[in-house]
Amino acid sequence: MTGSNTQVYIDDLLVEDISYSYAHCEGSRHAVHKASFRLSAGELVGLIGPNGAGKTTLAKLLAGVLRPLAGGFRYAGATIQPYKQPARCIGYAFQNPDDQLFASSVSEELRFGASNVGCSTSQINAAIQEVAPLLIPLTDLTTHPLDLPFVMRKRLSVAAALAMNRPFTILDEPSVGQDINWCNELYRVLRSIICDGRTIVIMSHDPDFLFEIVEHVILMEGARVAFQGSRNAYASADHSHWAKSFVSLPMYLGQNLAHFSSSTFDEFHQRFSRKMSKDI
Ligand SMILES: Nc1ncnc2c1ncn2[C@@H]1O[C@H](COP(=O)(O)OP(=O)(O)OP(=O)(O)O)[C@@H](O)[C@H]1O
Ligand SMILES: [Mg+2]
Repeated sequence: MTGSNTQVYIDDLLVEDISYSYAHCEGSRHAVHKASFRLSAGELVGLIGPNGAGKTTLAKLLAGVLRPLAGGFRYAGATIQPYKQPARCIGYAFQNPDDQLFASSVSEELRFGASNVGCSTSQINAAIQEVAPLLIPLTDLTTHPLDLPFVMRKRLSVAAALAMNRPFTILDEPSVGQDINWCNELYRVLRSIICDGRTIVIMSHDPDFLFEIVEHVILMEGARVAFQGSRNAYASADHSHWAKSFVSLPMYLGQNLAHFSSSTFDEFHQRFSRKMSKDI
């Protein structure tokens, strides 16, 4: 074990036919429609899809911020109701950090969630030590979170969610506005965390960041789960959604993305598939 946790997690989370609509009236459009998938212990999972596909809504359902209209969750062989016990097994770093941060100091913010789910002081201290590199260059933990610039508020929201030490943590677009050094640091911290069997789900529209770190992919399109499987299987799957899910094609593949002509796109997909089959 290389993470700070003394507990090792082994159970998968099953999401079964979860649905949600923001307007609770007949005929209203679903934001999430019959989403079913499994999150296995100890994985880094990419949750991708175009704007409005339902990723954040799905994350909020998992975290208990929203209550599903239908469907359910199973963890460790038992039915769980995250909306009745928010964050008991699933931590969430909000897409908008200002929906999450509320404490009057960085230190308090880092401790609140962990303490709220029953972590001991020594567990919290160990967890904070583990996520501390994500707060660089901040050194004064008495700073008020709302005095921080957006990028640092985002870093704090990610660090606070991870410090809760939950078996599953969802990071909603953590790389937005972040530099390469921080993204590398995040990857290093996450690699350490998944050694305890903890699972991390990451959303991002940045393929360079995402495909360098995730092993599995869940694709949402139009409120539904359109694909789930390994990164390798994703690379071989139908790629008609690529242009819709990302702000660019991966730069490390050397593509010039001035436009999405079909020949460029096909060529990109072939190169991506080759790279994935070499990597895995
Ligand atoms: N609070 C809300 N009230 C009403 N509709 C909402 C609300 N939040 C999201 N929606 C709608 O629900 C659908 C799914 O939105 P959601 O934010 O889950 O998508 P997303 O995949 O996270 O998108 P993005 O990539 O832009 O973050 C969209 O049609 C969106 O407009
Ligand atoms: Mg979102």
